Amino acid sequence: MATPAPTSPPKSESPKVASPKSESSKVASPKSASASPPPPGADVTVHDNVTTTMHPVIEAETYTESAYSESEVGSYTTSLSSSVMHYRFENGRRYHSQSVTDSNYFLPNDELENDRLDLNHHVMGLMQGGKLHGAPLDNPQRILDLGTGTGIWAIEMADQYPGAHVVGNDLSPIQPRWVPPNLTFEVDDVEKEWTHKPCSFDFIYCRYMLGSIKDWPQLIRRAFTTVKPGGYVEILEPDSTLRCDDGTLLEDSALVQWNKLFISAADANGTSVIGSPNYKDYFRDAGFTEITQEVFKLPNSPWPKDPHMKEIGGYHMATFMEGLEGLSLFFFTTFHHMSVSEINVLLANVRKEMKNKAIHTYFNLYRYIGRKPE
Ligand SMILES: C[S@@+](CC[C@H](N)C(=O)[O-])C[C@H]1O[C@@H](n2cnc3c(N)ncnc32)[C@H](O)[C@@H]1O
Repeated sequence: MATPAPTSPPKSESPKVASPKSESSKVASPKSASASPPPPGADVTVHDNVTTTMHPVIEAETYTESAYSESEVGSYTTSLSSSVMHYRFENGRRYHSQSVTDSNYFLPNDELENDRLDLNHHVMGLMQGGKLHGAPLDNPQRILDLGTGTGIWAIEMADQYPGAHVVGNDLSPIQPRWVPPNLTFEVDDVEKEWTHKPCSFDFIYCRYMLGSIKDWPQLIRRAFTTVKPGGYVEILEPDSTLRCDDGTLLEDSALVQWNKLFISAADANGTSVIGSPNYKDYFRDAGFTEITQEVFKLPNSPWPKDPHMKEIGGYHMATFMEGLEGLSLFFFTTFHHMSVSEINVLLANVRKEMKNKAIHTYFNLYRYIGRKPE
């Protein structure tokens, strides 16, 4: 059952702020729900009613020094404000209250994590050409943001569409108090029965819920029921498998060790962090049409030669470095029975490798857009 977020949380201000080849046919001009045309060099295919765009390979810059300096790392970190509330504390981090849900959501909800979410929002903006969404919205009246986090996307959507009412829900009421009048935040668990009426939103959005959701087909079916005929549902989720196209990520590296532990812990929690390549099937099974799947390459450090991709990699490195502890603590202590000091040793090695300019890793970031038939 959704409950309105408290109206007076303490301290809070608005946040400032190649690839697998498809077996299917290539097309010159895809029928796409996405507002943005595919970039030059993109690989576009259509298979079973789903248009897939693979963004082009990234060329690495050649460096004279071997590691990113502290100031280079720091220059990508922005100081962003966030709210503070008292919840469950473990290993020095704050987590959502178990009274809201029995969900085993693994990430903290403290200031450090919220700053990271706001920084990640910036990365997502850079990745998507400054746009908040890919769906071709036309005068939307009602917009729902699932797992809104700090609410930064919902706030910007409310500003961009003053004629719409935006609702953001989350397990934690960590969103700012002063928000645009056309925005409401609710405390809710999206894995429980939805209280919103069927066909009541023009647009439903969901971003970075990896590791949170046990039943993605159910979530996508509920979104289908809740969106209006002709409306859109958009999901933006990474596949957390660390990737590398030039052999610079070694199998015995701390990065690979960390990645395996992360993926297997999420599996043990029942909330996969590598399931996003499958969501196109869930969209199709739910009844959506005009489904698009786009695969962006998200560099994990500023290794690309291209200045835009370098900037994305720099900011993403900052979010990754800042997020590592939060991403690992609950998962690794709970499912791998590691001590905090063991985790810290591993993370120190991971950070060192992240700063190594000779290692060129990235994640695949999946963007799905589906339209409910009229
Ligand atoms: C990684 S954050 C992403 C936040 C936001 N979507 C963004 O992209 O900035 C995931 C958010 O989902 C929320 N969350 C996790 N499980 C949830 C659930 N079952 N119901 C509602 N929110 C949930 C968490 O509290 C957290 O704020």
